[in-house]
Amino acid sequence: MLEIRNLHAKIADTDTEIIRGLNLTVKDGEVAAIMGPNGSGKSTLSYILAGREDYEVTEGDILLDGESILDLDPAERAAKGLFLAFQYPMEIPGVATMEFLKVAMNSLRKARDEEPLKIPEFLKRVKEASGSLQMDMAMLKRPLNVGFSGGEKKRAEILQMKLLEPSLCVLDETDSGLDIDALKIVADGVNALRSPDRSIVVITHYQRLLDLIVPDAVHVLYKGQIIRSGDKDLALDLEKNGYAGVVGEAA
Ligand SMILES: Nc1ncnc2c1ncn2[C@@H]1O[C@H](COP(=O)(O)OP(=O)(O)OP(=O)(O)O)[C@@H](O)[C@H]1O
Ligand SMILES: [Mg+2]
Repeated sequence: MLEIRNLHAKIADTDTEIIRGLNLTVKDGEVAAIMGPNGSGKSTLSYILAGREDYEVTEGDILLDGESILDLDPAERAAKGLFLAFQYPMEIPGVATMEFLKVAMNSLRKARDEEPLKIPEFLKRVKEASGSLQMDMAMLKRPLNVGFSGGEKKRAEILQMKLLEPSLCVLDETDSGLDIDALKIVADGVNALRSPDRSIVVITHYQRLLDLIVPDAVHVLYKGQIIRSGDKDLALDLEKNGYAGVVGEAA
């Protein structure tokens, strides 16, 4: 379970506050959608969750399963089960995707005091997961994300998520740039990960994704705060009427 309490955060070494008293709870088993106008702080929130050093938390707390993660570095957060699919996935030249996956999976296993995966078992898991995302194994020999098309990058993110089996997944605009078939494949991939012991946060602008990944809760982020929460109907309402009504009430 993710609990964010009165979070304030600014860009490091500046006075620019982006997150301004944000409260959010995502229970185990829940899929929460975060929506909100451009520039409201959605990606910033995901970077802060990941532990990026460009941002500084000045007040409040972030708890994962009841424990604060603020003092943990990104690798320690990942070991605790946090996974982020970024709006703009990073290219990692020189590291084959396959190798990246192996290192990522085995370092999480190590953190959990588990043995590294034997090669045949690793290959079996990768084949299964990439097959379900209709990704060609040949692509996995290429350096991670380098020269991948926009949609291929998003699939590669979901592939990592499937293989790492995180307890908290945050997906930042995973639907952007996907063709219609890929959107369905990615949504199926996310839905397959729904489980009573996993929380999923989906950041999106569009109802079309939420038609496929039906959220348990919808939250509107505006100027660094959650200004409205509701069920899936809130997203439908926003699709129809835009943010003006919700933002007007908060102003
Ligand atoms: N390093 C930075 N320097 C200056 N401004 C920044 C920095 N990082 C974020 N911001 C500003 O913080 C605000 C929130 O940005 P963020 O990327 O979190 O928005 P978003 O809600 O994800 O928007 P979108 O829907 O367009 O993806 C923006 O106004 C952005 O310009
Ligand atoms: Mg963003």
